[in-house]
Amino acid sequence: MPTDFMYINKCSSAQNFGQGQLSPYGHIQLSPSAGVLNYGQGLFEGTKAYRKENGKLLLFRPEQNAIRMQNGAERMCMISPSIDHFVDALKQTVLANKRWVPPPGKGSLYLRPLLLGTGPVLGLAPSPEYTFLIYASPVRNYFKEGSAPLNLFVEEDYDRASRRGTGSVKTISNYAPVLMAQIRAKSRGFSDVLYLDSATKKNLEEVSSCNIFIAKDKYILTPATNGTILAGITRKSVIEIARDHGYQVEERAVTVDELIEADEVFCTGTAVGVAPVGSVTYQDKRVEYITGSGTICQELNSTLLGIQTGIIEDKNGWVIEIN
Ligand SMILES: Cc1ncc(COP(=O)(O)O)c(C=O)c1O
Repeated sequence: MPTDFMYINKCSSAQNFGQGQLSPYGHIQLSPSAGVLNYGQGLFEGTKAYRKENGKLLLFRPEQNAIRMQNGAERMCMISPSIDHFVDALKQTVLANKRWVPPPGKGSLYLRPLLLGTGPVLGLAPSPEYTFLIYASPVRNYFKEGSAPLNLFVEEDYDRASRRGTGSVKTISNYAPVLMAQIRAKSRGFSDVLYLDSATKKNLEEVSSCNIFIAKDKYILTPATNGTILAGITRKSVIEIARDHGYQVEERAVTVDELIEADEVFCTGTAVGVAPVGSVTYQDKRVEYITGSGTICQELNSTLLGIQTGIIEDKNGWVIEIN
């Protein structure tokens, strides 16, 4: 849903980003030879602003998105905004679109920062100009109370990423390639696809746009971030919350065999929060997991959402109040 304003800032490849501005939400003009259109030089981010009971607006760890955009920009040979600039631009975008932040408990304002190579370039080379843009859309809670858990299909025909590639970068060029597997899985009644490592096909990687966790007894396992998966900010936060709650969390290679033996499986991401997985289908075998009340997934989700919405005390300095 379009909102009133977007933030926009441009800089040439010989400079750093200066002051940007808010402008009414609308189309942008691009040269047909823009780097992003021809060679996919683009990054995106995603974060949410919540409205607290007292009306104050909150952002969750926005500096982490700024750092991830900087790391991505380095890999994709782009110029990126500083952390302060990025966070300030997010705040401006939220304040300008304040009336679109849903009431407490009803959802959030999703913020989509983009970094695009917008300068004209014909031969393969970095773009001579970059645009940093943020737009926003109100979103409802991804999962309504009691909504159905995810049913994942373990994908073996397509890989999402490969060693020494760009799997750990939030580049736009990682996303169109997952559509085919996702559409195929959805047409067979699955919610999404779970990718395996391209080298051995034995270890879990991640879902199209969220990270994966498995739980067995007091152990929680999640694939380590070693270049092929996105280092999710929700993933990082959930690991810290789980350790704080007394769980033993391991970041390491997690095998399909361990997935099959797990008690619980859940996904993490800005869009989904901590989302239960009800089943995983691997080859011809469907495995079901515990979901619902009393699960680790629910415990972690309510703590995370509680912190993000200001209901639970933020002991880690993760939440920023926007004034
Ligand atoms: C491929 C992929 N993995 C994981 C995530 C989850 O990351 P985060 O928790 O920062 O939203 C995302 C979403 O940004 C993603 O696109």
